[in-house]
Amino acid sequence: MQDLHGRTVDYLRLSVTDRCNFRCRYCMPPSGILKRDQRDILSLEELEEIASACVRCGIKKIRLTGGEPLVRRGIVDLCRRIRRIPGLQELCLTTNGSLLPQLAAPLREAGVDRVNISLDTLRPDRFAHMTRLGDLSDVVSGVEAAEAAGFHNLKFDTVLIGGFNDDEIEDFVSLTRDHPWEVRFIELMPMGPCAGWNRRCFLPGDTVLKRISTLQKIPPSGVAQRYQLPGAMGTVGLIAPVNHDFCSQCRRIRVTADGKLKGCLHSAEELPLRGLHGKELEDAIRRGILQKPQRHHLAERRSDTPRNMNQIGG
Ligand code: 5AD
Ligand code: SF4
Repeated sequence: MQDLHGRTVDYLRLSVTDRCNFRCRYCMPPSGILKRDQRDILSLEELEEIASACVRCGIKKIRLTGGEPLVRRGIVDLCRRIRRIPGLQELCLTTNGSLLPQLAAPLREAGVDRVNISLDTLRPDRFAHMTRLGDLSDVVSGVEAAEAAGFHNLKFDTVLIGGFNDDEIEDFVSLTRDHPWEVRFIELMPMGPCAGWNRRCFLPGDTVLKRISTLQKIPPSGVAQRYQLPGAMGTVGLIAPVNHDFCSQCRRIRVTADGKLKGCLHSAEELPLRGLHGKELEDAIRRGILQKPQRHHLAERRSDTPRNMNQIGG
């Protein structure tokens, strides 16, 4: 269905947990998050019920996010149940990749169509520093497991951080020469722990084009502008929420792990879905879609959500 600004909304990002086995510096405070009572988080049944109601309201693609979705117990079964919802065309998952060695094959078997892997650096020491708890070799094994399980056109999401990984742009782009992958650079958004970081950390997406002059423009996909090295198997995406906002093409809504519908990542507006069932639940979702905020205010370096990213789902 369409919102009040004429945008078709057909994409749901559903957060299945706010927990994560990493503590990326821009996303989480060092101590991690307050462990919430498990009852504050949607049950697997509630997640399935909300997903199903969203599909009845016109959602065609669902992406499961977190925190880290693969730390949620029962995730494979949840994927299987959501994939069976009549009318759903695509089920995707965004993960930090560390648990894919064990889970890639079962997720594929459960019907997950695609996985995106968040990966901000290719250097083990930097990776350990940025994620505080992560080990790059787990992610590398996860990528191999994903490919072995049949996830072929992997997408990698790399948050561009000035002074941290901008000297790796070329290495990331080079990955697309011999792999059918899409490497996507995402502008760091000022929210949560990174909101107060030095301005130099916030690089415009165009930095990638300035550094790699051989990239050729190809048609965009979703909110990503896309490019390709001549003769490369894969592609390069630029997602620039801060410097080229794509709000007018935004087709998505979000549901947080505690059951609040958000029309925009950066808006403080939330619509509680918990406790609603059947027609009541669908009516609330339709209202949330209709009232999707027109745009965000990141250009003024302001996100209006009080939540950290792990509490919304990227
Ligand atoms: N700006 C941009 N991307 C972010 N993510 C988390 N926090 C931010 C931020 N402040 C990304 C993660 C992951 C996705 C879920 O969201 O790195 O790729
Ligand atoms: Fe976990 Fe992703 Fe946040 Fe890193 S960015 S702490 S992997 S949720």
